[in-house]
Amino acid sequence: MTDQLFNKKPMEVLMKEASGDAHGLKRTLGKINLIALGIGAIIGAGIFVLTGQAAAIYAGPAVSLSFIVSALACGFAGLCYAEFAAMIPIAGSAYTYSYATMGRGVAWIIGWALVLEYLFAGSTVAVGWSGYVVNFLASIGVVIPAELANAPLTFDENHNLVATGALFNLPAAFIITIVTVLLYRGIKESATFNNIVVLIKLTVIFLFIIFGWQYVVADNWVPFIPENTGTFGQFGISGIFRASAVIFFAYIGFDAVSTAAQEAKNPQKDMPWGILGSLFICTIVYILVSLVMTGIAPYTELNTPAPIAVAIDKTGDALKWLSPLIKIGAIAGLTSVILVMLMGQTRIFYSMANDGLFFQPFSKVHSRFGTPHISTLVTGAIALIASGLLPITVLGELVSIGTLLAFIIVCLGVLILRYRHPELNRPFKTPLFPVVPILGVICCSGVMAFLNPLTFLICGIWLVIGLMIYLLYGHSRAKY
Ligand code: ALA
Repeated sequence: MTDQLFNKKPMEVLMKEASGDAHGLKRTLGKINLIALGIGAIIGAGIFVLTGQAAAIYAGPAVSLSFIVSALACGFAGLCYAEFAAMIPIAGSAYTYSYATMGRGVAWIIGWALVLEYLFAGSTVAVGWSGYVVNFLASIGVVIPAELANAPLTFDENHNLVATGALFNLPAAFIITIVTVLLYRGIKESATFNNIVVLIKLTVIFLFIIFGWQYVVADNWVPFIPENTGTFGQFGISGIFRASAVIFFAYIGFDAVSTAAQEAKNPQKDMPWGILGSLFICTIVYILVSLVMTGIAPYTELNTPAPIAVAIDKTGDALKWLSPLIKIGAIAGLTSVILVMLMGQTRIFYSMANDGLFFQPFSKVHSRFGTPHISTLVTGAIALIASGLLPITVLGELVSIGTLLAFIIVCLGVLILRYRHPELNRPFKTPLFPVVPILGVICCSGVMAFLNPLTFLICGIWLVIGLMIYLLYGHSRAKY
């Protein structure tokens, strides 16, 4: 049985499946489109929502330093990801790469961790969407009662799950339903559509940076690193690291670039550009946004569902014109991230089911729409319940732990493969080998260590459920 955990999916099969999936796809995406694809998936609830909470509760203005810490972890992992994506340039994800190179056991763990990432990322961003929609509606006089726009559960300061008095987050459930219907009927996120959304997102963010900068009150940055309260992780140096674990979520999505490998004109060269270029641009944008946000408004006031909007309101009438633009930009941008995340999730279930590792109905394709409809419906239902019941902090951390786990395995994978299979053709090589993959493992583990202990518990339960599904189902049915 343990032998089978090292079974690998043959490369010829992968290539054949890939050419089947790619039927009709044209190689049209160049560097710029791939970078835009990355930015489209990356910029979302992390910067629009979690930054404010991370500043208010953990790091103060030093949240901009937390962005640098997280960017380092993502940068090292991104370099390793780029090596894989260029080596196996077919539509897929870390799950596919690891099945071909490290075997079934590792593939299963990565696949299951990616389910945690994409499934709950859709829900997390939906909660962020809800915050901005409620705020926007309120500004035009339509008030949604707080009980119907918030999660009934949240973490208190002692990491316990407590009731909030609210019933259900209806707007979040609403947007998940809309996106699920779109995915069920088949929507292809075209590069043009994505480019437009990215342009809107970046425009509102740059407007915020440029105009907001003029209203920064330098006093709000003093002290830049607020003194630790006596509790580990609440301000001070430990607070910077705790916040970096929270806002790590903001960087998630650059891995989505690899799903477009078969539409890239020159995947071997352009995949690394797409992955690393989008990561680089977002890092700069995030540092600037967090500086302006904490410069306009005292960080203590930013623990709200729509902190950028709150920061703008702090300027009085001066930037009033910018407020609706930011909200509409955020709502459009968040919608596209939900779409990418839920679509990614349905494809992961689909690939795992196709390999025999997950329940067969998930590999079925709708006769008319040509979409993995059962996978889409189940994904939508779980995401809907999670977005209605859980707060963004709990969801965001679950996504982060799943992603960090996958990143750590990808870094380890690069290390192992270089020694075991030095002969494989690697069009892009992670530089400074083995330093970069080792640093990737260390930084990602470091960020992970600062997550809430309860997140580890839930992740542990998640992995046990996954192990049971594997033992009772996948083990005897796996095709490779
Ligand atoms: N990075 C994405 C976001 O912040 C998932 O919404």
